[in-house]
Amino acid sequence: MKNINSAKKKIDQIIKKSSVPEDYVHSENTLDWLLKLKPNADESLKIAALSHDIERAIEKRKVRRKDYKDYDAFKDAHALNSAMILAEIMQECNLSKKMIDEVYFLVSHHETGGTKLVDILKDADSISFFDVNLPLYFARNDLKETKRRCLWGYQRLSDKGKSIVAGFNYQNKELNALMRVCIEESERLKEGSKIRNSNSADI
Ligand SMILES: [Fe+2]
Repeated sequence: MKNINSAKKKIDQIIKKSSVPEDYVHSENTLDWLLKLKPNADESLKIAALSHDIERAIEKRKVRRKDYKDYDAFKDAHALNSAMILAEIMQECNLSKKMIDEVYFLVSHHETGGTKLVDILKDADSISFFDVNLPLYFARNDLKETKRRCLWGYQRLSDKGKSIVAGFNYQNKELNALMRVCIEESERLKEGSKIRNSNSADI
């Protein structure tokens, strides 16, 4: 437990220094959402929630959007880079190989999901974006980019995550209206793909 606490302390100190203003609150808030979705989460899952974006807090090592062909490739590189940095921290703190491997897997897949546990982490991360990051993201980006990010984030939520996010309200009226548009558009896209899939099943 002593080693786990020293790893958490190191993670906390790194994320506190991030140049992205919402990084620290997002880290804590992702853990809060994770515990709401899975109250009995183990230490590996809790560390992964706190630290899944850690690379963004290290200027010299963070990946940059401009270096990747599309947003998904950028997000995959971000997840892998965070996982590698975390593995180094956990090794320095003498955590067990089992725990290092578990956290590495969770963090390196937190943008794409794929297992029951990693899907919960992905959902907690995505809900937290809408809970605490979005108003700050909107303050830094224009309407078009914020809409793209919201649609991308909303579509990757589970149905439960979608119903949680649909209940959020923002002080900024423009942001509230944008979210309503994104939710409607996402539902239309979902219906469209259902129809396309059922038609292709007939061919
Ligand atoms: Fe995140």
